[in-house]
Amino acid sequence: MKTVLIGNPGKFSYAMREALRTLKTNIKFSGDDVKVIMLTSSAPNEGKSSMTFNLAKSLTESGKNVLLIDTDMRKSVLVGRLQAKSEDGSEIMGLSHYLSGQQSIDDTTYRTDIENLYLMFAGPSVPNPTELLEKKYFAKLIKNARDCFDYVLVDTAPLGAAIDAAIVSRHCDASILVVAQGVEPSKNIVEAKNQIEAAGGKILGVVLNKVNMGKIGYGKVYGSYYGKYYGKYYNEYMEEEEELHKKHGLFGKKKEKKKKASKKDIY
Ligand SMILES: Nc1ncnc2c1ncn2[C@@H]1O[C@H](COP(=O)(O)OP(=O)(O)OP(=O)(O)O)[C@@H](O)[C@H]1O
Ligand SMILES: [Mg+2]
Repeated sequence: MKTVLIGNPGKFSYAMREALRTLKTNIKFSGDDVKVIMLTSSAPNEGKSSMTFNLAKSLTESGKNVLLIDTDMRKSVLVGRLQAKSEDGSEIMGLSHYLSGQQSIDDTTYRTDIENLYLMFAGPSVPNPTELLEKKYFAKLIKNARDCFDYVLVDTAPLGAAIDAAIVSRHCDASILVVAQGVEPSKNIVEAKNQIEAAGGKILGVVLNKVNMGKIGYGKVYGSYYGKYYGKYYNEYMEEEEELHKKHGLFGKKKEKKKKASKKDIY
């Protein structure tokens, strides 16, 4: 197994660290039969890839061996965002190399310089990702990963754009829906949940991402004293969060293309 060096692992803000701690606790209490977990969303850009990487990294900090598999072979961004380089300078291989029969699981799974974190990148974009994911090779990959790691986190393409995530969910113990605040009408979120369940997947829960804590008005819930206190508190964290997302590649808009790609452009 080769090693990749991660140039930009990102940084957790206080709010993110707290949210990840809660998520980890919920996962641990879901039982020891929940170890292969998929993250998806209804629409693009809701934060699946950031959340998957952050959760993976956070689980390794609890001493767990974690493999992150990026199944979004329509839009491979992880290598660039993490500024990943293979230690021996060779080209980084990924899931599409493995599923198309060009490389083995071992050749496409990388140890990283983050202790206990292993990565399988998506590999080059392919014209037929759905077809590749339906092959027996994908089932074999998940079976192997299940035996070798404490947790396997699977990043996916958004459900609203393709059925890939529904196919992937069949092989996972549970799915987490990432929902960016204010982005999606609730019927689309329910539709995404139904798609996963129709494919035989189980929903573990929903993560509300990109939340502006200031806007949701703690004051209304807790009264003015707490409202003021928490409002300020969380606004500061939100600013810290946005600042971190701007500074660090995985979480930074800087490196993303300026032009907003339409679904058609990407898929
Ligand atoms: N909690 C957050 N706060 C602020 N910005 C965020 C947050 N989470 C993600 N982002 C930013 O949103 C953008 C999209 O994030 P990301 O690529 O993780 O989403 P995605 O759901 O995987 O997208 P896609 O559907 O294209 O795969 C990135 O620029 C990222 O830095
Ligand atoms: Mg993504």
